[in-house]
Amino acid sequence: MPKVRILPSDVIARIAAGEVVERPASVVKELMENSLDAGASMVEVHLASGGKTLIQVRDNGSGIPREDMAELFSRHATSKIRSGEDLESILSLGFRGEALYSVSSVSELTLKSRAEGLGDAWEIRVRGGEREAPVPVAMPGQGTDIRVEAIFFNTPARQKFLKSDTTEFDQAAAVFLPYALLYPQKHFVLTHNGREVYALPPVVKGAERAAKALALKAEHIITLDSVRNGDVRISGLLGDMNIARPRRDLQFVFVNGRPVQSKSVLFHLNDVYRLVMPEGVHPFFVLFLEIPPQEVDVNIHPAKREVRIKDEARIGSFIRRTIEQALMTRGGAKQAAADIFRFEPGVMPEQSGLRSERLVFGPGQRSSVPPFTPAASLASPGTGTGTGTDDFFALTEQLSARRDETLKDRLLRARFLGTFIRKYHLFEEGEGLFVVDQHAAQERILFELFSRQMSSGSVELERLLVPVVIRLSPRELLLWEDGKPQLDALGFESELMGEGAVALQAHPRLIRAPEAAFRSLLSDEVKGLSDRDRLARRACRASVMAGEVMHGDEAREQLKRLLACADPFTCPHGRPVFIEVKGSFLDRQFLRTS
Ligand SMILES: Nc1ncnc2c1ncn2[C@@H]1O[C@H](COP(=O)(O)OP(=O)(O)O)[C@@H](O)[C@H]1O
Ligand SMILES: [Mg+2]
Repeated sequence: MPKVRILPSDVIARIAAGEVVERPASVVKELMENSLDAGASMVEVHLASGGKTLIQVRDNGSGIPREDMAELFSRHATSKIRSGEDLESILSLGFRGEALYSVSSVSELTLKSRAEGLGDAWEIRVRGGEREAPVPVAMPGQGTDIRVEAIFFNTPARQKFLKSDTTEFDQAAAVFLPYALLYPQKHFVLTHNGREVYALPPVVKGAERAAKALALKAEHIITLDSVRNGDVRISGLLGDMNIARPRRDLQFVFVNGRPVQSKSVLFHLNDVYRLVMPEGVHPFFVLFLEIPPQEVDVNIHPAKREVRIKDEARIGSFIRRTIEQALMTRGGAKQAAADIFRFEPGVMPEQSGLRSERLVFGPGQRSSVPPFTPAASLASPGTGTGTGTDDFFALTEQLSARRDETLKDRLLRARFLGTFIRKYHLFEEGEGLFVVDQHAAQERILFELFSRQMSSGSVELERLLVPVVIRLSPRELLLWEDGKPQLDALGFESELMGEGAVALQAHPRLIRAPEAAFRSLLSDEVKGLSDRDRLARRACRASVMAGEVMHGDEAREQLKRLLACADPFTCPHGRPVFIEVKGSFLDRQFLRTS
């Protein structure tokens, strides 16, 4: 075996950097935290090519005097703590003294700064960990300006792992936004390739900041003032049910003033929201949690934000009660409900309140969305939908039914019995009870029609006399710009309409919830979705989410159209469209022997 050696310092630096600097977004996080720790009231972030060629963070904080400049780039150089005891009472975002050391060892870094109360400004350059001597520069005001160029120029393996500019930019924006939400009174700017993506001047209220930063309507945001339970405190912002998004990208959790990822907190919030939100869409919320530090396990990995709460049961139930209470008692959600869901006339209960919306969606809704694995479980046929129904229903028979052409004949003969919880149509035939998932069926029918129109190049358009104005978040706007040709080809014709909005002028006639479908198409890079089937699937999915109530004739008509499909047995996402419950199965359940 070769002799043990201590690694050269530049190698140590690069290994350490690997822990802290994973991608441009990690640099954005570290530099923004430094600016905020320096008391800045203004933080500008400028990126080029998703941060691959430039990450620049400029602030008006306390600045760095010349004598400290060289030191900053040594490992464990920090002004934020002095001793082990200080670790117990950290008030700053950073404290390890590793960020500048790490970033500068894998990039070309230029730091300019003018310290508080000093007239002169200095600049220092560090390339791959090699420092030059500071030189005087001109700088108008107090603060610090750091440019990180050519990230990973000396670690090609890491460079290779970087994703597209859009993806890297997305990641960086996802780091930027939480800080902007955390400090509404500070000025934040984010630009990409010289274009302003977020310009957020100081405001007083968190709701105002969120509305502007995330392109939401302030009237749909409920402010939750601080609620206390023992040593735990919650406050935040809660979107009402009008803010429903195809992805969970409007969900922010902070613990003790830091942006964190917490699966359990997200789970509780999303689960409570199931009271007011239909399946397949996700709410907006910002939750600030104050807990005694000893109650939180912060993953000590410097780049990760995942935290674990020790007394999860207690804190989780406090969160649930508080959020449920706020959603149930605050007016916004209730009155807005009609915008999204079509109520059956006369069905809406008088005493109103959010409970009524719940009726429309039915009690089965809550458990039907498995948290954290939505895409995966939808994509695998035959695994059930996370509700544990596999044991009860003859799913396997449904699958083998693919080969069983007579099943179609049986369904054609089946007699309509009724609708269960407005989601399932029940048919009987011979010894079988067929349960048809109304939405899955609708999706299948739409998808096949739409695909056929697309492949024959004749998507039937609905031209809107009055265009639908859709407000887009900065991220959606970027995706829209990139994907416009694909959207047009799909039949979603839109034009830019001033700040942060587009006007939808035409949509495929088949798509009945065009805004939802359009937004859902913009939930990812449209350009990347070169596969037309995938686009069609997504559009159709969003289009049947709108919770329709169907009656007998419509249900029968739907079944007929379903059976005319090339593949009537699964929805375009691979879930079963219907299952068969055999009489013999019920007999067994009732312990009947015959
Ligand atoms: N934008 C900034 N303004 C003022 N001081 C800064 C700034 N960025 C870094 N510093 C100084 O550099 C030190 C090292 O930064 P860093 O490597 O991120 O470690 P840490 O933040 O953990 O202390 C900080 O402790 C701080 O004194
Ligand atoms: Mg730091």
